[in-house]
Amino acid sequence: MTDLPQSIDATQSMLAGQSYLADRALSTVLFLALKLGRPIFLEGEPGTGKTEIAKALATALGRRLIRLQCYEGLDAASAVYEWNFAAQMLAIRSAEVTGDKTDLQSRLFGPDYLIERPLLDALRPQPGGAPVLLIDEIDRTDEPFEAFLLEALSEYQVTIPELGTVQAATPPIVILTSNRTREVHDALKRRCLYHWVDYPAFDRERDILHARAPEASDTLSREVVAFVQRLRSEDLFKKPGVAETIDWAKCLLALDVIELSPEVIADTLGAILKYQDDIARLQGSEAKKILDEARQSLAPANA
Ligand SMILES: Nc1ncnc2c1ncn2[C@@H]1O[C@H](COP(=O)(O)OP(=O)(O)OP(=O)(O)O)[C@@H](O)[C@H]1O
Ligand SMILES: [Mg+2]
Repeated sequence: MTDLPQSIDATQSMLAGQSYLADRALSTVLFLALKLGRPIFLEGEPGTGKTEIAKALATALGRRLIRLQCYEGLDAASAVYEWNFAAQMLAIRSAEVTGDKTDLQSRLFGPDYLIERPLLDALRPQPGGAPVLLIDEIDRTDEPFEAFLLEALSEYQVTIPELGTVQAATPPIVILTSNRTREVHDALKRRCLYHWVDYPAFDRERDILHARAPEASDTLSREVVAFVQRLRSEDLFKKPGVAETIDWAKCLLALDVIELSPEVIADTLGAILKYQDDIARLQGSEAKKILDEARQSLAPANA
């Protein structure tokens, strides 16, 4: 287990050690969240590193990462705990055969038959210290689940009627993410420190690409980042995130591409755009126009 970082700079370099490049604002929120023991609420465009930050943080701090992936219809049984119904039935059967029914009821609803799901798991003591609990894509759940979560996160405890209350001796480090497909309730946001994760500026995105795809030459990286950055200003149904920039660079490397050309772009667009309408927009002379503009934006730095 590593100690918590003692400054914003230390937070930033701790993450950089995991090839995660956070800007000053994000590093500040993280540092404060760790210092004050508050959950972090990260909202932003897809593919901008929201999920990855929890992984980087857990690895850097030597903590376990526990992930609760949210989806429509997620309920407490999948998020907190469930009774192992099949094992309970077997135990009842064997009790009937042996005739030993002493304490059957309390045995059936004891720890042996409890299946712990991520939220309960995150409240348990861990050898490496309190875990990092990633509650990913909270906007996909519904409001009742949000209300339930609010309660669980305010006291860091959950109650199992048959067993009693489980409270974390040391609260987990909680990171919530949302793609903002709907607004998450204010009450939940209020518990957290909030940060909007935006697309990175050119220099940072180039540094991220360098960290994640070091094989890419400087020239190719700059062109790829400039093109993607320019593409984001187009009116697209789904703009490419950092994840797409990295994927695209890796595809280009696999094809031994040294520099971009309209033909190469047309052949590999599927790595950055995932909707046919968006791809169609870049047919014909459009890709060349964007490439020319992207190269122009690079020109002053080249001079
Ligand atoms: N600041 C960053 N530093 C390093 N890598 C980054 C950064 N931002 C994004 N990435 C890269 O982008 C990839 C995608 O990031 P991630 O999956 O965390 O995005 P996300 O915001 O959770 O997207 P989604 O909303 O689609 O789930 C990561 O695997 C990582 O390689
Ligand atoms: Mg994610």
